Amino acid sequence: MEQDERGKGHRLFLMASPLQGHMTPLLHLADILFSKGFSITIVHTVFNSPNPSSYPHLDFHAIPDGLSQAEASTLDAVKLTDLLNARCRQPLKDFLAGERVPCFISDASLHFTQPVCHELKLPRLVLRTGSPSSTLVFASFPLLRQKGYLPVQESRLEEPVPDLPPLKVKDLPEFPSQDPEAFYKLVCRFVEEFKASSGIIWNTFEELESSALTKLHQDLSVPMYPIGPFHKHCLTGSTSSTTLLTPDKSCMSWLDTQERRSVVYVSFGSIAAISEAEFLEIAWGLANSNQPFLWVIRPGLIRGSEWLEPLPDGFLESLGGRGYIVKWAPQEQVLSHPAVGAFWTHNGWNSTLESICEGVPMICMPCFADQKVNAKYASDVWKIGVQLENKLERVEVERTIKKLMVADEGNEIRENALNLKEKASVCLRQGGSSYSFLDSLVSDILSLES
Ligand code: UDX
Repeated sequence: MEQDERGKGHRLFLMASPLQGHMTPLLHLADILFSKGFSITIVHTVFNSPNPSSYPHLDFHAIPDGLSQAEASTLDAVKLTDLLNARCRQPLKDFLAGERVPCFISDASLHFTQPVCHELKLPRLVLRTGSPSSTLVFASFPLLRQKGYLPVQESRLEEPVPDLPPLKVKDLPEFPSQDPEAFYKLVCRFVEEFKASSGIIWNTFEELESSALTKLHQDLSVPMYPIGPFHKHCLTGSTSSTTLLTPDKSCMSWLDTQERRSVVYVSFGSIAAISEAEFLEIAWGLANSNQPFLWVIRPGLIRGSEWLEPLPDGFLESLGGRGYIVKWAPQEQVLSHPAVGAFWTHNGWNSTLESICEGVPMICMPCFADQKVNAKYASDVWKIGVQLENKLERVEVERTIKKLMVADEGNEIRENALNLKEKASVCLRQGGSSYSFLDSLVSDILSLES
């Protein structure tokens, strides 16, 4: 990869969370900073460690995470993050003591790194892998609780949240399958630690989320660096996918056989899980929609099943090649394929942004946490998607797919998505917002050392 000279001679440490949705943007950020001349060490946990051979231009350092075999799981992401915040503190301190680097960059959820850096008099920059719009909601958690909007009550779901338009109570981030109090505390803690940091790096671009960025800047009083979309910077350093699972590339040749903008790509990211009943409604909804579909069914997606056991015998065969299922897809490539016409997504921030970058309109089915806010912005603010309303039922799935892919309603959404794709590209060019913020970030990192 071609490097510019500015960061030359300076090493940066970047600490990753072992969750897929956090690891990918951190590795992209490492590539971006490498392209600016910095030498990079990725500090990571033993659990879910990235494969160094895929990134020969980066150095890697594992710190003991102290997780037992039972604890080393992403099933309860909140508990896992809490454990890492408690157990990695001393090992990180031991590693960093005596190191002379301009600053330490860590994932926001690893809030323990702020007090460690403070003790070592090391400036800390934060990588927030979620969107500013959803982070603004997280920053409002104490107020939302005080005003009675949190915890969410069934009877108030349709009420607007006055301080956070256009959100309704039903759009507020919750993590139903995990301890709600632990989630609340984790969020409040990492937001609190933002204030002591030297700035926040965002995987977004200013034109997309300027109002959330301005508000966060006012509330947190630290510099904001919206330098995304990360994966669209001209990076050639990584030799393979940044994902922890191996993508099944066979779906690309299947996509080659499909008509332009006809395929619904369906994927719910790396953590979300659904019940067997929901799975079957999705399957029949897709079948009845008459659109071709590429569906990522991750082992573990269906609660209580290994993989495809609940799928009725002969389901795919009965569709005559109209459906294709993989365990994991090369998502960025899939979304950029001309055959893909819609992305049925859980609205994890990476998926949402990847879809925006390719101009692919979304069918939004958020599952938990920030995803609900991302989905609301996609459908109601950016108007590049439709929400799957009501219960997850096959008729509803069929209706929503047709609304986006066949009905006139879809035309405007498609046009909006293409306009936003253009903005996501312009911001990275010389003089564009992300290009300029990256320039400031590099200068600010270098000035931190003195
Ligand atoms: C998690 C949270 O769920 C999400 O809400 C938060 O914003 C980030 O952390 P995850 O659920 O995995 O992430 O979703 P997402 O943020 O969309 O990240 C998934 C990543 O895996 C994307 O970069 C996507 O390209 C990749 N992916 C997904 C694949 O490469 N192949 C697949 O088949 C599915």
